[in-house]
Amino acid sequence: MTIIAGFAILTPAWSAVPDGKNTYDQSCIHCHGQSGTGSSVADKFWKMRIPRLNSSYIQNKSDEELKSVILNGKRKMPPAMMGTPETAHKTKVSAEQVPDLLAYIRTLKGK
Ligand code: HEC
Repeated sequence: MTIIAGFAILTPAWSAVPDGKNTYDQSCIHCHGQSGTGSSVADKFWKMRIPRLNSSYIQNKSDEELKSVILNGKRKMPPAMMGTPETAHKTKVSAEQVPDLLAYIRTLKGK
């Protein structure tokens, strides 16, 4: 028990990533593809090349910018925030989930 607790305290950044991946796979993967590499089906549906989350265009954005896109949406990107009527309830992300989700998105760089 002590060992597990110590491990959790020593590795907060690591432990955030699996939660972020779950959130990503529930809320973002349909439009942004596995590991942020994009989806040709989604591109066709949205009639555009949806930005790849593993690209430097996205990875060069600040956490604040990405957080704002997730919670408020941007252009065609619908807000993913809990409580907004635009998204189906199972795809919504709560503000508490955003830090883990961002940690996961940062691991996608160059994938
Ligand atoms: C219903 C489809 C859909 C879902 C689900 C979705 N996105 Fe998007 N996303 C888009 C589209 C379409 C764009 C392109 C918007 C534009 O440029 O008009 C986009 C753009 C973005 C951008 C780039 C915005 C910019 O500054 O150009 C980021 C970052 C992003 N999405 C992150 C996410 C994350 C994180 C999730 C999961 C919480 C998510 N998206 C879920 C459709 C989606």
